[in-house]
Amino acid sequence: MSSKRVALVTGGNRGIGKEIARQLAHKGLHVIIGCRSEEKGWQAVSELRSEGVELEVQAVDLQDPGSIDAVVYRIRQEHGRLDVLINNAGIILDRGVSVLDVEEGVMKETLETNFFGPLRMIQAVVPLMKEQGYGRIVNMSSGLGSFQGMQGLLGLKGSSSAYRISKTMLNALTVLVDQEAAAYGIQTNAVCPGRVQTDMGGTDAPHSVAEGADTAVWLATAEEEDGPTGGYFRERRAISW
Ligand SMILES: NC(=O)c1ccc[n+]([C@@H]2O[C@H](COP(=O)([O-])OP(=O)(O)OC[C@H]3O[C@@H](n4cnc5c(N)ncnc54)[C@H](OP(=O)(O)O)[C@@H]3O)[C@@H](O)[C@H]2O)c1
Repeated sequence: MSSKRVALVTGGNRGIGKEIARQLAHKGLHVIIGCRSEEKGWQAVSELRSEGVELEVQAVDLQDPGSIDAVVYRIRQEHGRLDVLINNAGIILDRGVSVLDVEEGVMKETLETNFFGPLRMIQAVVPLMKEQGYGRIVNMSSGLGSFQGMQGLLGLKGSSSAYRISKTMLNALTVLVDQEAAAYGIQTNAVCPGRVQTDMGGTDAPHSVAEGADTAVWLATAEEEDGPTGGYFRERRAISW
């Protein structure tokens, strides 16, 4: 069994996921970048190697349940443990499209990656975490999916509904998984990273990737048995669902 804590970051080849992987590796965890293109994953690793950290790459596509089972099987065989799961990978396909016009296919594809992907990942890793009586699950959500955010407060009206509803569902999943898993030392939380300078967030976003990754890394490395769980955080503070 690996002596270091082992972390899996989905979508760890770019954006916030890559930065989370980087920060976790600098904190001494063995980090596995989960991504659909292994080639892209190794590109990220070769960049991070210049900072003196070593990471691993494993292929995983959230839309492919077989690849999720396979990656968790390999982690069990090769490391015997998984301490941290960062459900980071996500897509937005309906930016600016009204809920009255969004195509059902777009809604389904978004839920497939942003909701069913994390659900599958959680169902696959929790048995391993339960065996060790320890786990940290961080779901990368968005304030756009909070009920408060959807009640017009963000001025977005009914746009980007597929993306936003997928994050509302991810928030609900966070709460329900926590109800089942907390008794086994598994702390499950949702995070809004703020709007971050990535391909998704755009170059004019107010936050750097380092800022966007910070709260997820904080929750992923919280060692206290009574640390936060079942919560929703931005900038290390609880926010409204
Ligand atoms: N950036 C923001 O302002 C912001 C704000 C709120 C919440 N978030 C959330 O934070 C997370 C990361 O966002 P980001 O800005 O870093 O996004 P990003 O730059 O667009 O990167 C998304 C990552 O997800 C991966 N991915 C997409 N579909 C996948 C699938 N089916 N299987 C595996 N990986 C898949 C991508 O892989 P490929 O390289 O192969 O495409 C990429 O690595 C997302 O969940 C997002 O919703 C971001």
